[in-house]
Amino acid sequence: MEIIQSIHLLRSRLAELKQSSAAALKNISVGFVPTMGYLHKGHMSLVQAAREQCGIVVLSIFVNPLQFGPNEDFERYPRDTERDLKMAEDAGVDVVFLPQVEEMYPRRTKTTVLVSGVTSRLCGASRPGHFEGVATVVTKLFNIVKPDKAFFGLKDAQQVAVIQQMAADLNMDVEIVPCPILREADGLAMSSRNVYLQPEERRQALVLSQALRKASQWVAAHPTFSVNALQNLVTDHIRTAPLGTIDYVEVLSYPSLEPVREVPSPDADKIIIAVAVKFSKTRLIDNIIIPVGV
Ligand code: PAJ
Repeated sequence: MEIIQSIHLLRSRLAELKQSSAAALKNISVGFVPTMGYLHKGHMSLVQAAREQCGIVVLSIFVNPLQFGPNEDFERYPRDTERDLKMAEDAGVDVVFLPQVEEMYPRRTKTTVLVSGVTSRLCGASRPGHFEGVATVVTKLFNIVKPDKAFFGLKDAQQVAVIQQMAADLNMDVEIVPCPILREADGLAMSSRNVYLQPEERRQALVLSQALRKASQWVAAHPTFSVNALQNLVTDHIRTAPLGTIDYVEVLSYPSLEPVREVPSPDADKIIIAVAVKFSKTRLIDNIIIPVGV
């Protein structure tokens, strides 16, 4: 596995790797997994999908300052590069791109990428500027790596919708591959931020996945329903955790992320139930996407 910190070197090395794969009549497609590091099995499932589908697998590790708000956790975001590199190597990554902040943002950035509509609700509403930071860094990374396929987890389902919208609108020549959410054995969605949780918070954090499971069972049993009732059911369950503070519980169409009042609805063949809950300073998100085709 190669570890490259400079954009210039990464570009020339990827060109060489493609040439030599082509000469050896191997699969030369480039699969890309962008991350902010502190890797866990959720990230590694994206690497595995890339390994299965592409000849060359590139993983980036970059904690992107542009997507953190002023009072968010950029400074204290967990980092462990040595451990990340070992996990990447074990998973069969070919090249790790590990740039410094100055390499990605050498001078004050004058250009950003703003995706409207799909960014107006959920985390887009709670974290102003967040998706502009994500769309900007992902655009830069796509321009640097030039992947054929890029792999994103549905743990961040709104991020997937934003990236798909951006790639389509800007004619980016890359296939966005959404991958399922990986969970701990007890249901908690894996996240780099789970390490922040105190033991009692970790226990109570199970209400997120429990509420979503309960909701999907309820949807399966109700062919028609008002979205309000579904939202209340999820909210009531999350409120059983006294240490949690709800940021949002929303039911929207997916991937357009528009409000839905009733199901079935001509505007939604899939709905997403998305939740964000804070435990102390730690904000956890989870979601489930359910087909509700008419
Ligand atoms: P990060 O939070 O490190 O996540 C990197 C990728 O791993 C994302 O596509 C995310 O959805 C996926 N992922 C995280 N937890 C997962 C889980 N439990 N199951 C499946 N996939 C999971 O998302 C980002 O970084 C950044 O916004 C980034 C896209 C790298 C831009 O900076």
